[in-house]
Amino acid sequence: MGTIYIDDKAVEFEPGQNVLDAARKAGIDTPYFCYHPALGAAGSCRICAMETVPQKEGEKPRTVMTCSIPAQDGQQFRFKSPKAKQIQKAVVEFYMTNHPNDCPVCDEGGDCHLQDTTISVGHAYRRYDGQKRTMPDQFLGPLVYQTMNRCVTCYRCVRFYQDYALGDDFGAMGSSNHVLFRRTEDGAFDSPFSGNLVSVCPTGVFTDKVYRRKYSRTWMLEKAPSICSGCSVGCNIEVGGREGTLRRVQPNNEESKVNPYFICDRGRYGSHGTESHSRPKYVSEQGKVVKTSPLDALKIALVRAEGHVGILGSVEEDLTTNLALKAIAKEMNAPFSPFISPQQEALTKTAVAANHNAPSISDIEQSDAVFVVGELTEHAPMLDLAVRQVIKAKKDVYVLHATPSHLVTALNKLQRGHVKALAPSQWQDCLTQINTAVHDGAVEDLWIKDVANALKQAEKPVIIGVAELLNTADISLLNTITESLAPAAKMAIALPSAGSVNAALTAQENSCAELMTQIESDKIKTLVVVGSDPLNTNNPHWHALHDKLDQLIVIDKVLTKTAHLSDTLLPLAAWPERDGMTINYEGRLQRFSKAFARKTATIDAHSMIETLMKSPETIEQWLTELAPTLPQAGDDGIIIEKDKLKCTELPLEQKTNPPAIQSTQPQVALSKWFGEGYVADHAPEIRSLKPGSSASINPKLAASLNLSNGDQLMIICGDQKLVRPAVISSQVADLTVALNQADMRLLQADIASPLCLERTSELFIDADKKEEIKNIIGSASVIMMGEA
Ligand code: SF4
Ligand code: SF4
Ligand code: FES
Repeated sequence: MGTIYIDDKAVEFEPGQNVLDAARKAGIDTPYFCYHPALGAAGSCRICAMETVPQKEGEKPRTVMTCSIPAQDGQQFRFKSPKAKQIQKAVVEFYMTNHPNDCPVCDEGGDCHLQDTTISVGHAYRRYDGQKRTMPDQFLGPLVYQTMNRCVTCYRCVRFYQDYALGDDFGAMGSSNHVLFRRTEDGAFDSPFSGNLVSVCPTGVFTDKVYRRKYSRTWMLEKAPSICSGCSVGCNIEVGGREGTLRRVQPNNEESKVNPYFICDRGRYGSHGTESHSRPKYVSEQGKVVKTSPLDALKIALVRAEGHVGILGSVEEDLTTNLALKAIAKEMNAPFSPFISPQQEALTKTAVAANHNAPSISDIEQSDAVFVVGELTEHAPMLDLAVRQVIKAKKDVYVLHATPSHLVTALNKLQRGHVKALAPSQWQDCLTQINTAVHDGAVEDLWIKDVANALKQAEKPVIIGVAELLNTADISLLNTITESLAPAAKMAIALPSAGSVNAALTAQENSCAELMTQIESDKIKTLVVVGSDPLNTNNPHWHALHDKLDQLIVIDKVLTKTAHLSDTLLPLAAWPERDGMTINYEGRLQRFSKAFARKTATIDAHSMIETLMKSPETIEQWLTELAPTLPQAGDDGIIIEKDKLKCTELPLEQKTNPPAIQSTQPQVALSKWFGEGYVADHAPEIRSLKPGSSASINPKLAASLNLSNGDQLMIICGDQKLVRPAVISSQVADLTVALNQADMRLLQADIASPLCLERTSELFIDADKKEEIKNIIGSASVIMMGEA
């Protein structure tokens, strides 16, 4: 801590801060364009000028760019000197010579840093009457819109995209006064973080194309601090709604302890899934809209149940909702579980219990060695962005994976040899060997030795695993390795869903098995499903249970398969439409606020508590036990104490062994796309970028099957078969076929399920498309999904 003086005002600074940053933090409205707190200074725009105050006789004041001057104790500057003011004003005038006069129709209007700066430095009249420079715009896909003429050449976009997010399909092109910022070719960005260009650009060159389509001036939005429900990172977002619909999602707070400055595209654009045309908006009974309030319909349906009720909550929902459902179930003497399978319950509870010392995004960024197990980008994108900062700092990052991943692509460019692709059934052996090497045991594999050495030598090593791809034994091994490293070592398990911790903490022991057993034994004839999709699992068990029910009541914010099959369908409020609390992978309890109300009535935890509960104080009691002081919306939240995050009923020692598989047999690996999610799957813009179903396969395995890219591959798992076009990729492990979740469901396959493969000319299609396709392709053999 030190002190500098600006216009004789004392300004305190932290070590490492520059003068501009210290001034901003002290509330001095210093102009800047090229500087960004997360990206640093480029020193190119020349607007952050101040004058130095001479310290010795004969010394003259100097003009300095404050973003490039490290703050040092006792320095003195003049921000308001005539010279400094003249430079600031001249710089803005220079940028405005070419800037179009399109503020009234610019989507950035009201949020524009250039607009604010123009006013603040006092540039009011245009003197230049020459021709303006014009530049071509580029089509950048469905998420980001470009208006190149508004550029002030601050290079923030390139510094974010290339230097911070390590992307390489976008850059500066041209020279002198004609620099264009564009992709190498038209089309969508190849980065899960592209929407941040909208946030970093200080003017309206990059604007949010989804918000643009649902246009509203920023000051007309109803805004509130909220939490992203896209994954277990729980990023802080600001949501803006208008006229009962979601219009915009952006990062909330540059000081956030979770995600300062940035969010991923799944969070920014996927949240719009709740605006899908198919969203349940009204009460419907047996598929027909009924004119009644959702809560009345729920009460009537519960009366019909005559006490034989079970409640299925959700791993996608917040703590408040799951607590409310648990309390309601308790009063009704009904079983409650937020999990759709005992396996999901065991894995989630194990992963949550292991996460008691999880690193924050900032801890990850400052680590000096990171070991990632699984395709992190596709499961917890902002943790990936944190790992990229470690790569950028030239510290060791190692990744063990089975399928293509954005992080692997980025790492391959800068730290060759640091990734290892292994079939999922081999991961446990690999982790066991790393554990051996960390404990100085002998191992032969050089990569494993390197990983162990890097972790052992690091002062702040971080291990990150992806729960959805691991079994409980793998998590236990990662925990053991972490405990053997430096005292500052930390481990994070990216959890399968945004509400994984909420679910783990609200579920009783074996809650899912108990719920299923009671349906099986006819004790439950009415099931209430809230924010969950058990009938989408292709799990025959849930379909059999469904047949045993008299009544299926679904309350949801998106139209799922289960919602389709419901007897009563009721609209649920999405997170931006209600207050709530949620716990992220770190165990951080955060509160979110309602930004806007929909025009049609919805159900939320609070209205269910008011309508259905006799003694709602149970929930208050549970919350007080969890955290004596509860967080406020928009603050840093509260880290729940370690002991309270331990889900006692499933100790880490409980191991699930991977399925036995012959060493030469191909197997399944899960291939996820970074933009998918429970809500995001319904957001049209981001969903339009989702790759089609394919079978990604390693070149060696492809060669053994005589397969070329695009050839049809028949994949046989047990008595199920499927045909998908082959995509040959060196990022797929040998003896592995990477499939998306939907195809794994069709095959009724798990990760590492053994497969038989053959090249085919047959085409498997959905039943309803069979005749149509036959007419088109005539001679090809057409087999329906599931036909053996
Ligand atoms: S496009 Fe925006 S961020 Fe990029 S250089 Fe121009 S003004 Fe700066
Ligand atoms: S990392 Fe997860 S929580 Fe954060 S913005 Fe992306 S989807 Fe949302
Ligand atoms: S902000 Fe200092 S030179 Fe651009």
